[in-house]
Amino acid sequence: MNPSQPSSLSAFLADLPKPSPQALAVSDALCRLITQEIRANNEWISFARFMELALYAPGLGYYSAGSQKLGAAGDFTTAPELSPLFAACLARQLAQLFAQGLQRILELGAGSGRLACDLLVHLAKLNALPEHYFILELSAELQQRQRHLLEQEVPHLLPRIHWLSTLPEEFEGVIFANELLDATPTHRVRITPEGVEEIGVTTLAAHVAHVAGAPLTDEVTTSFCLAYRPASEPLLFAAQALSLDLGFEAEINLNTRALISSLTQRLSRGVMLLIDYGFGAAEFYHPQRHLGTLMCHYRHHAHDNPLVLLGLQDITAHVDFTAVTEAAIKSGAHLLGYTTQAHFLINCGITQLLSDSNPQEVQRYAPLAAQANQLLSPAEMGELFKVIAFGKHCAFPLLGFARGDKSHAL
Ligand SMILES: C[S@@+](CC[C@H](N)C(=O)[O-])C[C@H]1O[C@@H](n2cnc3c(N)ncnc32)[C@H](O)[C@@H]1O
Repeated sequence: MNPSQPSSLSAFLADLPKPSPQALAVSDALCRLITQEIRANNEWISFARFMELALYAPGLGYYSAGSQKLGAAGDFTTAPELSPLFAACLARQLAQLFAQGLQRILELGAGSGRLACDLLVHLAKLNALPEHYFILELSAELQQRQRHLLEQEVPHLLPRIHWLSTLPEEFEGVIFANELLDATPTHRVRITPEGVEEIGVTTLAAHVAHVAGAPLTDEVTTSFCLAYRPASEPLLFAAQALSLDLGFEAEINLNTRALISSLTQRLSRGVMLLIDYGFGAAEFYHPQRHLGTLMCHYRHHAHDNPLVLLGLQDITAHVDFTAVTEAAIKSGAHLLGYTTQAHFLINCGITQLLSDSNPQEVQRYAPLAAQANQLLSPAEMGELFKVIAFGKHCAFPLLGFARGDKSHAL
């Protein structure tokens, strides 16, 4: 909890839908776990570690515990949950890659399994089913949901679908992910007259004791506040390279960089396709965003306080696609394309897919047209979401990047 804003925060929380007693019990257990870790680490953990525990602590974190996260009944909606048009377009891009001999898919962070399910259906229609469809999903609970959905909707395709518990040492094929990187625990810094500080989390009790110079009590507290330490390498070097102005608070996602390096190194031949919201570094670190891009989602309410509703709300940050590109290129890949979601979907034929539905059949056509608008409109997902592709020992023009290239913005 941010001690400087207790009244506005409690007013804000009072307006949100109430969590169930079971959900609150899980949240309390997560608070105790984080408190223990903070105590064991000299009263401070990095924000990245806090976010990792809040989202992925086994059995307790947001993505690991049992609540519904995606879709209308959850906290936020992603493109594959919003419309089957998204998977239909992506299937066309994948079919082009399969025709080049890349017959295996690895999807990272498959959420409810909706995208995997719809992709396989559309790929079957295009007569382009992959030999193998691998899924790597961090959350055991979501893995179960994925299995259940795929068993229900495409039981005949199950022999092709395999769940992995770790990244394979070597992979040839197509690696892709939708909204994985925004859910990767991020480091945060702030720029002060004394230099670059790393933003971390401590318990409120430790904070109060520190301020008052009093000794800590043994009482377990479930409230947290932000706390700051001089940034150590390599965060310091990464922040210095960005030349951020005094007063800036910003995310620098070292975990995303490490993940992209690792994926690129393991890709022996193939394409990595990533879809997420974000910008190139110039826009990401623009003074307009001097307080960063961190957002939390709870039952379709968005706010910027990651310290409340622990384990009950999603915590995300936009993606710095320049950092992603640098990490991929440093590890041996080359950029195949970078564009907006709107351009990617149009290049993959979304308008033709829509026109395949008869406008006279209003009940079917009207929702599809509304979904296409949400996917494409600059005011919705069309501009903020980007698609980026890297190749390793594969260099041919990709369907989805035929027009609207934005590589100059990286
Ligand atoms: C925002 S959700 C997106 C889900 C889905 N791709 C969609 O578009 O609906 C993020 C997903 O990534 C998973 N995830 C996060 N980090 C991961 C990692 N390092 N490896 C595999 N899965 C991960 C989460 O558990 C969750 O399923």
